[in-house]
Amino acid sequence: MPVVGQSVPRKDGAAKVAGAAKYVDDITFPGMLHGRTIRATIPCGRIRDIRLDFDPAGFTIVDCSDIPGRNVVSLIEDDQPCLVEREVRHVAEPVMLLAHEDREKLLAAKVHIEYEPATPVYDAERSPAAHKHIVIEKGDLAKGFAKADLVVEGEYRTGHQEHVYIETNGFIAVPEDGGITVHGSLQCPFYVHKALKHLLGLPDDKVRVIQTEPGGGFGGKEEYPSMIAGHAALLALKARRPVKIVYDRAEDMWATTKRHPSVVRHRTGVMRDGRIVAMEVAVLLDGGAYVTLSPVVLSRGCIHAAGPYRCPNVRIEGRAAFTNTNPNGAFRGFGAPQTEFAVEVQMDRIAERLGMDPVRLREINALRPGDTTATGQIMGKDCSALMVLKEAVKRSGYRRKRRAWQGTNRGIGLALFYHGSGFTGSGEVRLASKCSLATTERGVLILVASTEIGQGTRTMHAQIVADTLDIPFEQVDVAVPDTAGVPDSGPTVASRTCMVVGRILERCAKEMKERLDGLGPGEHYRRHGPMVITKEYEPPPGIVWDDATYRGDAYATYSWACDVAEVELDPVTYEVKTRKMTVVHEFGRPIHPVLARGQIEGGTAQGVGYAVLEHVVMQDGAMANAQLTNYTIPTTLDTPRLDVVMLENPYPYGPFGAKGVGELPMDGPAPAIVNAMRHIGLDVREVPALPEVLMEKAGEAVMR
Ligand code: MOS
Repeated sequence: MPVVGQSVPRKDGAAKVAGAAKYVDDITFPGMLHGRTIRATIPCGRIRDIRLDFDPAGFTIVDCSDIPGRNVVSLIEDDQPCLVEREVRHVAEPVMLLAHEDREKLLAAKVHIEYEPATPVYDAERSPAAHKHIVIEKGDLAKGFAKADLVVEGEYRTGHQEHVYIETNGFIAVPEDGGITVHGSLQCPFYVHKALKHLLGLPDDKVRVIQTEPGGGFGGKEEYPSMIAGHAALLALKARRPVKIVYDRAEDMWATTKRHPSVVRHRTGVMRDGRIVAMEVAVLLDGGAYVTLSPVVLSRGCIHAAGPYRCPNVRIEGRAAFTNTNPNGAFRGFGAPQTEFAVEVQMDRIAERLGMDPVRLREINALRPGDTTATGQIMGKDCSALMVLKEAVKRSGYRRKRRAWQGTNRGIGLALFYHGSGFTGSGEVRLASKCSLATTERGVLILVASTEIGQGTRTMHAQIVADTLDIPFEQVDVAVPDTAGVPDSGPTVASRTCMVVGRILERCAKEMKERLDGLGPGEHYRRHGPMVITKEYEPPPGIVWDDATYRGDAYATYSWACDVAEVELDPVTYEVKTRKMTVVHEFGRPIHPVLARGQIEGGTAQGVGYAVLEHVVMQDGAMANAQLTNYTIPTTLDTPRLDVVMLENPYPYGPFGAKGVGELPMDGPAPAIVNAMRHIGLDVREVPALPEVLMEKAGEAVMR
């Protein structure tokens, strides 16, 4: 019985349900110490003096002078120190590390830091410095605007967002034969491996990174684990004992990355009949104090900034600005939720100005096979913009409700959106991911660095391998992501784990099947010993990208979706309840329908939170509401009724036709909900659209 397309029991299900799965904080080692991070309390300045206000006996104390290698958290640019030397660039920046076997004593230890404060930059719009600048150009913008009947301008804003993975960041470092082994909650074992090598000055084989069972990631465990793993490792090497650091919720929210806030400006030239002839987009992201992943977040954001629309003349300019706040980083969607919010609200505003049905405007401009994107990528048969739009409109009764609710406190709005699967541009080619498949006594073992972060990696990969080999799902095991035991199949990010890594595994399984000569893998193992097949990423044919000009195939393919939100405004409290969402996604083919639906439901709920609830309050450069009592995320009561539809348009270069679905659902809810608010008559152009924002907009509406 084939298992692809079937919702088989998940590989990690039984252990999690039984409480047997070990999260990092469940694990202890003999002689283990607890670690703690002393952090800066000013946003900008220099450290003049550090004084220990406790008896240091029994403590291990680490500062930047204890770093054996380079004092950097190695990522894109090596600008971020692992521990501050003198210059402080943001509140919560790590300065010193302490370890002790008694957690109470550790937490009671006081360190006094004397600063020479300097003037911080908080406003990305006024920041003189940028981490990255990008320009995408197509056609002739001036000609496009000259031809346009109407020009519509708009400015759109989005706030920070906190990941609120159930499990906070945590690591245990264990000194082992001249090197270090770290166990932790992470998405990208080889990112941590690389960072530790540079920080500790150790060769490849002296650094080992093992993923413990993680309680969620959402991008929040893409880059910060390299920092906390470094801290645990430095303490462990100095103490010569295992050291555990696990953040509590307040520290995790206060000190780690958030989604980049954005300001996106649009100028769009349209013809009376609705055709868009010119698009000028300026994207500004608040990058925070260090580069971290901002260049690639900006890149994905800019590439998605024109939305899933065809337009002959486009200019997109992006900037990730420096500010004296915690570096903002990876978060499900990676820049696309910000820019797709802007373009989708802009589309509704254009429709308002033209007196045109928002669906009609999208039908006229949606990308079709043969059209080109802003980077000049030619759409193929895998382009499903019109398909998802039509289905969502029909299923939700959008047109009927749009008319019926006119002038009431109920509104309906939609967003059409897309998301590129895999790394941007030449990213996948440069990653050159590798996967292995090995025969075992009982079947086969999958060896990949891809991590299970709740999304179902192990199950979905095992399904792909089982069906390709034509063996029972139960005979497929998945190795623990351990850099000493698995090849580097790249980070678990960018909606790439199914489409990109799954495809490499499918190719491994195909070759294995041929070489098994009709034997089952277990039988072959018993007769001939182990067989290991390793394959490397191969781009689909015809994919061309030029990093220098930002032209070409930005992604091998895209997934497509349309969300329709139905909202109700409370005229007294100005709260907006999202009553129902119709969510139509096309991502090739779901390998495991229940897990895929879980991704869509979870991502949609996270998008609802982004739209109306989640508000990071920044005060003096730090998150002032770093707690779950007043940083509110959606509960089941805030989550609308979801009508999820998975349309299929199999992609020939994905395993069994699959594309990516991890991030896509995050891109649509905010613009769909804000467009529903606009239907009520509230001129909202920002998220989170909190009651105070809506009250102000309602006042404006009455005054008009
Ligand atoms: Mo990520 S936001 O884990 O690509």
